[in-house]
Amino acid sequence: MSKADLPQLLSSKAIEQINDWLKKYPDNRRRAAVIPALTIAQDELGYLARETMDAVAAYLEIPNIAAYEVATFYSMFSLEPRGRHVVSLCTNVSCMLAGSEELKQWFKDELGIAPGETTQDGRITLKEVECLAACGGAPMLEVGKQYHENLNVEKLFHLIKELT
Ligand code: FES
Repeated sequence: MSKADLPQLLSSKAIEQINDWLKKYPDNRRRAAVIPALTIAQDELGYLARETMDAVAAYLEIPNIAAYEVATFYSMFSLEPRGRHVVSLCTNVSCMLAGSEELKQWFKDELGIAPGETTQDGRITLKEVECLAACGGAPMLEVGKQYHENLNVEKLFHLIKELT
């Protein structure tokens, strides 16, 4: 891969956004832009294919492994295609004590999906995640980049119904 490959994969707007991030760091610290660059790439392409991570690495002039390390560590990155809506259900302590297991079971019973799975119609992907720092609103989940707190099964039903 070369620096010229990423602009072939992403829109000029996405490349502009990545360049804006790169301007924030010295030239010898381009690696610092890896999280925003991967986020921008994923937002545009839906997930991070190996080819995408390699192109991001080449663009930032860092080893491929530096992109893989970040993409495989953070739960907001996906290395596989996902549903139109990604639902991240927190099952960490506060949310667990407040009923997240019941919500997880609801996904299984009503949509037939467990964490890591996508509905057959490609509408919803469910992810199980660690604390999203909204413990005061437990149990909670995130749809896309929007938090939904103080949930119960009824509220979850209405929330999911709205996702087309
Ligand atoms: S434990 Fe769920 S947001 Fe903190």
